[in-house]
Amino acid sequence: MENPFVYGEIVPSAAFANRVDELHRLVADLDASQKIFLISPRRYGKSSLIRRALSVMARRGALTVDVTVASFSSYVAFLEGYSRALLAAETKWDRARTWLGEVIRSARPEVRYEPDTSSTTAGSLSVSFPSVRSERDIARLAQEVFALPGRLAEVRRRKVVVALDEFQAIAGFNGGSVEHALRAAVQQQRDVGYVFAGSEPSLMEQMLTPKRPFYKAGPVMRLERIPADEFAAFLDGRFAKSGIKPEDGLGAAIVELAGNLPYDVQRLAHETWDEVRRGGRRRATLDDLHQALRRLLTEQQIIFESLWQRLTLPQRAVLRAVVLDGKELLSADVRSRHRLGGPSTVQTALAALTRDDVISREGPSYVVVDSLLREWVARKTF
Ligand SMILES: Nc1ncnc2c1ncn2[C@@H]1O[C@H](COP(=O)(O)OP(=O)(O)OP(=O)(O)O)[C@@H](O)[C@H]1O
Ligand SMILES: [Mg+2]
Repeated sequence: MENPFVYGEIVPSAAFANRVDELHRLVADLDASQKIFLISPRRYGKSSLIRRALSVMARRGALTVDVTVASFSSYVAFLEGYSRALLAAETKWDRARTWLGEVIRSARPEVRYEPDTSSTTAGSLSVSFPSVRSERDIARLAQEVFALPGRLAEVRRRKVVVALDEFQAIAGFNGGSVEHALRAAVQQQRDVGYVFAGSEPSLMEQMLTPKRPFYKAGPVMRLERIPADEFAAFLDGRFAKSGIKPEDGLGAAIVELAGNLPYDVQRLAHETWDEVRRGGRRRATLDDLHQALRRLLTEQQIIFESLWQRLTLPQRAVLRAVVLDGKELLSADVRSRHRLGGPSTVQTALAALTRDDVISREGPSYVVVDSLLREWVARKTF
């Protein structure tokens, strides 16, 4: 029996909880070839949602392309990877070569295809632009590459859907000019739907402000948490289906302990399931959950210790206050209870911890992003 809970990778459809409305909306917008912005903090499930939407679109006959912008080390490497992904959407090899050559005129693309003889997969493809050197070369090439999806849709007479994940990283490639070029290209492509997904909400939101190219480029979806009760019921159901009966309230306790962050929820559920399985039992209890939590904390001990050691003393005190209180950290009462010092010291520490993604702001309070770190701070620091 396989563990029904998945974390650290894109969730397969059976392990995918809820998100029915979001999926529906994303698919409808892509179907209408809109240019959608999808924004949430890290690990809320953007990539998994996109993957689901793309597979629905593929079933409806669209050609789909999925590229993670943040994984490239330079602008040219991104343009090469993006071209390769688009080319791979074309099954007829010669045809692909032809239209690539038609669109990319400023540079001579080198395309290699290595058939995979050992298995049934399609083999591997690479595209490179060795002649591209200067900034001007790159800018010209970018315009052409950004036109490729439109050409693909035209040649194949199919709808094309492009997902650019971790899109906030685009700003690192030569900033404003990439945004301009891409925006100019996509708005002309009537048969191409785009989803630009980003996990740094502040950077993504800035991209949508009036002075930036993507202002009003299309609908914006802000992915929220999965409602806690639905997530809890989903977990209980997955336990039961795998032949392990969950104690009443187990799903809810997992969601709560994991701060209802999808990644953390799945991690805790996964480890709890393992705990039960290892004991050869058929019932999952709250004890199993706490045992799994203790094991996870032990595994992460070294990482948390080194993180703690890197913090300044005021940051440590503020982090503890976030764990224990979370609200009104600037009030005289909370400051004196946790010996935090003056308001400006607290503010500086909060800003540093937020910037390093240790804590985040949720409405009037702050929360620790990693629920395991929160538990570790509560148990192991003083
Ligand atoms: N709808 C869902 N149902 C169940 N679990 C989910 C769901 N969405 C996400 N998860 C859990 O969260 C983890 C992270 O999901 P995913 O990688 O899709 O998020 P992300 O927002 O793209 O994260 P990142 O910002 O790190 O790229 C998954 O591995 C899975 O464990
Ligand atoms: Mg992702």
